[in-house]
Amino acid sequence: MKHTDIKCIFEDPSFLGQDVTVCGWVRTSRESKTMAFAELNDGTSLKHIQIVIDRENLEYPQTALRLGTALRVVGEAVASRQGSVEINAKEIEILGECPLEYPLQKKRHTLEYLRTIPHLRTRTNTFNAVFRVRSVMAGAIHNYFQSRNYTYVNTPIITGSDCEGAGEMFRVTTIGYSNEYKNEEEYYENDFFGRKAGLSVSGQLEGEVAAMAFGKIYTFGPSFRAENSNTPRHVAEFWHIEPEVAFADLYDIIGIAEDMIKTVIKEVMDKCPEELQFFNNHFEKGLLDKLNAIISEDFEVLDYTKAIEILKESGKEFVYPVEWGSDLQTEHERYITEEVFKKPVFVTNYPMEIKSFYMKQNPDGKTVAATDLLVPGVGEIIGCSEREADLEKLLDAMKKRGMNEEDYTDYLELRKFGSVPHSGFGLGFERILMYVTGISNIRDVILYPRTVGYVR
Ligand code: 4AD
Repeated sequence: MKHTDIKCIFEDPSFLGQDVTVCGWVRTSRESKTMAFAELNDGTSLKHIQIVIDRENLEYPQTALRLGTALRVVGEAVASRQGSVEINAKEIEILGECPLEYPLQKKRHTLEYLRTIPHLRTRTNTFNAVFRVRSVMAGAIHNYFQSRNYTYVNTPIITGSDCEGAGEMFRVTTIGYSNEYKNEEEYYENDFFGRKAGLSVSGQLEGEVAAMAFGKIYTFGPSFRAENSNTPRHVAEFWHIEPEVAFADLYDIIGIAEDMIKTVIKEVMDKCPEELQFFNNHFEKGLLDKLNAIISEDFEVLDYTKAIEILKESGKEFVYPVEWGSDLQTEHERYITEEVFKKPVFVTNYPMEIKSFYMKQNPDGKTVAATDLLVPGVGEIIGCSEREADLEKLLDAMKKRGMNEEDYTDYLELRKFGSVPHSGFGLGFERILMYVTGISNIRDVILYPRTVGYVR
């Protein structure tokens, strides 16, 4: 259907005085005796275009101006009194009727209500803005890596090895359990792959394989976690960006992560000014100042041991006790990023026992060369580490965790043949979107959230 994107009409003054055809959905409308007005949105722009109808000279179907109706309009693009562009309609055609029970009415609906209509919430201003920022940010992430000699690799979604070893893999099977099988092993032998398989929690292990050949790689794909975490920051299916860099230690990769975040946010600020202004007005007052500070100030780097000291000396009553050796809880992370530093903080060198098997063991014998990037309002957005390149140490870490070496033979062989120091990180795409938009629930930055007890 030949038509012009509404965004182009707003941006290109050469349309003024010309007849244009636009298509879109009615967002608001009003009628007087002689005139009628409808705001049309086609999703290409946050702004709606006003359609001006001279009722005395143009006939149109009675139901055309109902909220949600899909229209095709032909008319002359003219300057509006507000300094914008509107269309003096010459022809109005209904492409899709919308009955009065359309759930999106003029009032502002809550995000909770909108979650109950995921197939329609995308037609609101909020989701229009969220998904444009999401799309632009995905492009900016690819631009960042592509322009710096990284190879984009697609790691498998179905896998036989659990990267994080936290038992959070969804199982992939084609057969229902039956007590015909003597034991688990026999059951899996009869399954599609002839062994236990699951949905990958991270593409890192295969990413390391690629980095040991291509030097610098990144992945951008879905990861799956069967975590029983019903929080505003967890979904069972999230999008994961995982760069892996050969010849890089922990501090090199911290530098890359910081530079990537700043560059990507800068590109989103340049390309989505209206959307970010919208979030600043409606979701997080001061968002634009926050984003400007992120791109212009250094992030903090804080040793885990120092973080524990700060928490202990804070005089705060935390629900979870603060002890060297235990993981930081959300309340601890929030205190450090929101109250102490008020900016992104890389917490480094965590105790070995609370982190994954693949992380490089520090010479102190107690900690690993790992870091989490914590940000105000969201918490952890990046998990990162230098990888253990020493085969013996790696085997020892796996043994301590009761892991089955046979599931990781390829990974272990990488340490045998031309192993080099290397590091990488995983950035949760929805988490950084929350940070950049000020949207406080992860369910509102992904098209169809999957969470404990909920799939649609
Ligand atoms: O810290 P994580 O578990 O690290 C890894 O998976 C490493 N293998 C990454 C690597 O080094 N290549 O997860 C990385 C990030 C988290 O910081 C978080 O942003 C996101 O993935 N994430 C989730 N996002 C939404 N919902 C969940 N359930 C998430 N679990 C992790």
